[in-house]
Amino acid sequence: MIQKSGQNLFILCITVLMLSISCSDEVTSGNDEGKDLTNIPYAPQPYILNYPDDYPEMVIPTDNPTTMDGANLGRHLFFDPILSADSTMSCINCHLPEASFTDNKAVSPGIDGISGRFSSMSLFNVGFYDTGLFWNGRSPNLEMQALQPIEDPLELHDTWENVERKLRGTERYHELFRKAFGIEKTTEITRDLATKALAQFQRTIVASGQSKYDLWKAGDYFFTDLEFFGYQMFFDVNDDFKQVECNHCHADPLLTSNDYLNNGLQEAETFDDFENLGLGEVTGRRVDNGLFRVPTLYNVMLTAPYMHDGRLATIDDVLDHYDSGGKNSPSADALLRPLEMTNLERRALKAFLHTLTDTAYLSNPMLQDPFKE
Ligand code: HEC
Ligand code: HEC
Repeated sequence: MIQKSGQNLFILCITVLMLSISCSDEVTSGNDEGKDLTNIPYAPQPYILNYPDDYPEMVIPTDNPTTMDGANLGRHLFFDPILSADSTMSCINCHLPEASFTDNKAVSPGIDGISGRFSSMSLFNVGFYDTGLFWNGRSPNLEMQALQPIEDPLELHDTWENVERKLRGTERYHELFRKAFGIEKTTEITRDLATKALAQFQRTIVASGQSKYDLWKAGDYFFTDLEFFGYQMFFDVNDDFKQVECNHCHADPLLTSNDYLNNGLQEAETFDDFENLGLGEVTGRRVDNGLFRVPTLYNVMLTAPYMHDGRLATIDDVLDHYDSGGKNSPSADALLRPLEMTNLERRALKAFLHTLTDTAYLSNPMLQDPFKE
């Protein structure tokens, strides 16, 4: 379908050209108008995703299966500043691999130095977040999501027309797009395929099962006393320990329920008084005001500062927040209450959170910066 509309546009542009009226940027200003690529082999191999056994199956759109070549193209796009207007910034500026693909800033400045309202999100296990993406759920899936940073004035601030023109004019991408999608001409390089490749790449950022917590579940690691104490608090599994309810929202095995909930960050008298409406901004429903998607706690020790606007600088601030029972508002969750944790209980909970670090993905060659190879 996309190919066909590309061809139609091409024919239209030629007609317009013959009438000697300037044609759209897309076709005339490109470095070539459709170089033949059919001599490059096209034989994509499936990318086998290895994630822990107790995970749900990742839902992958049938028209965008994950392949080695597709993920490799997505990797190049992810790390390439070609996607930004002034070629200074790429996805990794705000999604650093070593920080579980966040940027360790409260809110992230885009290419123009202007900051958005939101804190960057971890892309760890992002292929499993199937209840909408972004803190407020405004994007339905990874394919749609990848359209947004390119044109967002607070992020890469380019236009897709321009990015398509740049990609069609860059030799490296002719082969990468051909190998990933079997296109026959460079004019078939489109935003649709670029976003599909970015989605494929991001689906490969999965847990390895090598966190201490996963190893413990598999019987391959023994928790220290403190870690086990914290585990029992987090999961409310032992009446002898203080139950702190985290697991209801940060649920096993992804350490998120993927629900939209209010963990008491904003004080509000009525549903209309929230400073940031969260889900309500997307659905337009008052009762959704103040709800945000529950983030995973995998790699939580690497992703400070915390919360949708990065308002809590450290994990101790997070524990203080939950210990206080949070602020009052009509959508504040009923599970929130003052916890009155002792020092030992705080240390135990923190020790458990440390067991959720899984950085094995850092040694996956398919997640490395391809421009540093
Ligand atoms: C200027 C910083 C910046 C850049 C550049 C950027 N992002 Fe983001 N990203 C963010 C922020 C901030 C959020 C959270 C935004 C929100 O919730 O509204 C986010 C959220 C996301 C999410 C949602 C994750 C989830 O769990 O819902 C995905 C996926 C994502 N970004 C992928 C990308 C890709 C792919 C690129 C490059 C094409 C990119 N980002 C470029 C800052 C950035
Ligand atoms: C009622 C559901 C709920 C409970 C209970 C809950 N959380 Fe959360 N948690 C959330 C939501 C929702 C967010 C995102 C809020 C936002 O940014 O607006 C969040 C965010 C976080 C974050 C920030 C993560 C990041 O990447 O920014 C941490 C850390 C966290 N919670 C830890 C905990 C711990 C530890 C407990 C138990 C003491 C706990 N949570 C209990 C719902 C909950």
